[in-house]
Amino acid sequence: MGLSRLNRIIAVIALIFAVFYGWNYLFDARRPPCYTVDVKYFGANIPSSNDVEDFSIKPFKIPFERSQVDDMIDRVRKTRFYEPQILVDNRNTNKSTYGFNRQTAESIQDYLINTYDWKKTVQELNNFDHYKTNIAGLDIHFVRITHNSERNEKKDAILFLHGWPGSFLEYLDVARLLNSSTINNYDLIIPSLPGYGYSDAPVRAGMSPIQIARIMQSLMQRLGHSSYVVCGGDWGAIIGTNIAQLYPGHVRGLLITMVAPALTWKHYIHLALAHYINPSILLDYDEQEYLGKRFDASQYLKFMWQEGGYFHLQATKPDTIGYALNDSPLGLATYILEKWSRWSNTQNDVDQSMNSGLDRFTLDQLLSNVMLYWTTGTITSSMRLYFEYFSSILSGHDNKILNGPLAASVPVAIINYRNELAYLPRTITRAKYPNIKLWVFHNSGGHFASIEKPQEYYRDVEKFLLQL
Ligand SMILES: *[C@@H]1O[C@H](CO)[C@@H](O)[C@H](O)[C@H]1NC(C)=O
Ligand SMILES: *[C@@H]1O[C@H](CO)[C@@H](O)[C@H](O)[C@H]1NC(C)=O
Repeated sequence: MGLSRLNRIIAVIALIFAVFYGWNYLFDARRPPCYTVDVKYFGANIPSSNDVEDFSIKPFKIPFERSQVDDMIDRVRKTRFYEPQILVDNRNTNKSTYGFNRQTAESIQDYLINTYDWKKTVQELNNFDHYKTNIAGLDIHFVRITHNSERNEKKDAILFLHGWPGSFLEYLDVARLLNSSTINNYDLIIPSLPGYGYSDAPVRAGMSPIQIARIMQSLMQRLGHSSYVVCGGDWGAIIGTNIAQLYPGHVRGLLITMVAPALTWKHYIHLALAHYINPSILLDYDEQEYLGKRFDASQYLKFMWQEGGYFHLQATKPDTIGYALNDSPLGLATYILEKWSRWSNTQNDVDQSMNSGLDRFTLDQLLSNVMLYWTTGTITSSMRLYFEYFSSILSGHDNKILNGPLAASVPVAIINYRNELAYLPRTITRAKYPNIKLWVFHNSGGHFASIEKPQEYYRDVEKFLLQL
């Protein structure tokens, strides 16, 4: 009795699906997507129509100020630690159950005071060629690496886009490898997102990923690249996707290490069926192998709930937490490094242990990224990107882009690292990225793969370029 009723329910659901898919297929899916973006200005003084736009590209050196370092160390020394520490069990106090681990925080304090050398980092970074150019009212910073600087315009180009809480530093190793490889025929452009590091922060609202996409396209045009490849993770993956949507004729390829399309109710049903009935409803065989045969939706939701608090905070009240983070270097370091830790080792029960993912990096790598946020005072403006993204979703203004697919003409590479925040099955990913040329599984590596695994990352870029 019960079973036949269930069968009928399943049949009705299947019928609804069939009608919906059929309709979609006939009328929607075949229409090539066409997107537009508002032209917005984010600088302090709105230019008048008489003003001549400044297209110049100015060389830039990262500034070093001794007084800034002295002040930082002074503040780190005076850190007011919270007492009492919590005893998670009677033996161990050095867990990260309640947030960033205390012992790790103390060792970072010690390293910042006694060992870390910002001056040396700045000198090393200044070995690269840095530039700034004004777009939409903001000075946008970028590193440019090229094998033979005289013929940039004739070269193909790759644009590398970082996310939060990262920076252009994430792509320097990969770019160096590309520059010294046999496929060195590329002009490599590594910008700081607006409001991050040495790029100006917007003083007007509305700097969403879609607006950043527009700015990055302008940057590439200005550098003489009407066609280029985009590589990105985190926000960089989202912005790269937006660039490919808005300017499909200019994007030769898109390589991303994080997939985050808006899920529709169809996808949720897919996910639920795969979870409760059989993974093969959703996953191809190689995906089942990669994920260990299952797709655990409840595990996924639990992870999002445990790890997603920062997102809500930054999407709603970025400035409030910003006061604290911009005032305390150690507070800033723990806030940022908690993410680097957790997002580099997402395997089960890591939250119960030490900040284990941090051992994938050197302290110098980790703290240089933190110092970039500290010395430029950009943590607040960086977090506002979540606010702007959330606002654009809530307002529904850019819904078409947020939910829509890429043009089928844009080749895409999806690179899955084991510890990326979430794995999105191929069937779902394809709905957004119809032309996937390369799909790679890595059994290690995390959210910051380009700096954690530069060799692997570089090889995937190379593989992708050869297919274009
Ligand atoms: C963590 O705590 C244990 C037990 O107190 C100790 O042996 C170990 O050295 C600590 N680890 C770190 C990195 O502080
Ligand atoms: C890139 O390669 C060129 C040519 O070998 C070299 O002159 C330049 O220093 C390299 N740039 C970087 C950042 O490694």
